[in-house]
Amino acid sequence: MSELDDLYQEVILDHYKRPRNFGVIDAPDRRAEGDNPLCGDRFILTLKMRGDVIEEVRFKGAGCAISTASASIMTESVKGRPRAEAEALFDKFHTMVTSGGAAEDLGKLAAFAGVGEFPIRVKCATLAWHTLKAALEGTQDTVSTE
Ligand code: FES
Repeated sequence: MSELDDLYQEVILDHYKRPRNFGVIDAPDRRAEGDNPLCGDRFILTLKMRGDVIEEVRFKGAGCAISTASASIMTESVKGRPRAEAEALFDKFHTMVTSGGAAEDLGKLAAFAGVGEFPIRVKCATLAWHTLKAALEGTQDTVSTE
């Protein structure tokens, strides 16, 4: 295993064991639930917006190491960003994990570049992101990976 793989594994493990922005925001502006029916993993995502900017974001729920770490890193990556930037980041992340798109500029999100080799893991890595998208669009209360 390369040093880079080791580093990525460490990042994922760290965020799994100590998830950042974990919890639920009181009186959130946006809220959505994400659910992977194949494994039963489920997250609640709450957002506080200032205009178009994601001022605060929290997630709560139970998931595997990949989905929990991805949710944690996602919250760090989008906090303080305008909605359009967060959505553009999701597009890049999605391209990286589904078709091996470039991982540059993705910071810690690049830790998930290897999941593309395991299609079932792509759902784990994108669950929180699909939930974020649903929360931002405000169209759907529960989003499913299936
Ligand atoms: Fe359930 Fe990963 S095994 S989201």
